[in-house]
Amino acid sequence: MEAPAGFLVVSLLLSCFVATSYGVYFSSLNQTLIVTATFTQGKVLKAGEDQITVSWRFNQTYRAGTDSDYKTVKVKLCYAPISQKDRSWRKTEDRLKKDKTCPHKIVARPYTASNNTFTWTVEKDIPSGVYFVRAYALNAHEQEVAYAQTTNVQKDKNLFQIQAITGRHVSLDIASVCFSAFSIVSLAGFFYMEKRKGKSSQ
Ligand SMILES: *[C@@H]1O[C@H](CO)[C@@H](O)[C@H](O)[C@H]1NC(C)=O
Ligand SMILES: *[C@@H]1O[C@H](CO)[C@@H](O)[C@H](O)[C@H]1NC(C)=O
Ligand SMILES: *[C@@H]1O[C@H](CO)[C@@H](O)[C@H](O)[C@H]1NC(C)=O
Repeated sequence: MEAPAGFLVVSLLLSCFVATSYGVYFSSLNQTLIVTATFTQGKVLKAGEDQITVSWRFNQTYRAGTDSDYKTVKVKLCYAPISQKDRSWRKTEDRLKKDKTCPHKIVARPYTASNNTFTWTVEKDIPSGVYFVRAYALNAHEQEVAYAQTTNVQKDKNLFQIQAITGRHVSLDIASVCFSAFSIVSLAGFFYMEKRKGKSSQ
């Protein structure tokens, strides 16, 4: 009785391990979603300032119910090949757990088949580069089951450029650091005066 039970547990554990270690391959996903990104055309987007409006929906030409196990949509900002060149830390891997193409999360939302829009201000820590937007549909186990992207398969069309904050706002940042240093000093001064006043009134 005991041996088969033990065997069952071991094989159960083993199959879980196998399931998680195999992971999901990008090439196995179907492009059943449609994602669009709108922003001021013909302009380099400035990190920390400019906005991208992302919309996504189910592509209705796919059979109804194809999306029945979609639970969440994760929208991400991804590097175009030109911004991955000679940068192994941004490398594309078919196995999604190892893929570094899309490290910047834009938004995650519960899945709905239509009417999804989100306006994102390009975050301050986004490095300069050439990008596109990709959306993944995830199932209840947080596994990718479908995707969409704003570029073509070769990832050379409909790309956009972001300029990092570095070098643009340095003087402003220095000013704000000085300002907070000043506020701390004046606050300390204020407490010191208050304490003295308290002492002298006793
Ligand atoms: C992609 O579509 C094919 C054909 O419709 C289907 O057999 C396959 O399971 C789908 N893949 C995923 C990950 O849903
Ligand atoms: C929807 O999917 C069909 C079939 O794959 C494809 O031909 C079509 O271009 C897709 N529509 C959009 C707007 O991407
Ligand atoms: C989409 O959203 C608009 C405004 O929020 C609403 O009027 C419309 O009915 C929605 N359409 C669908 C298909 O949910």
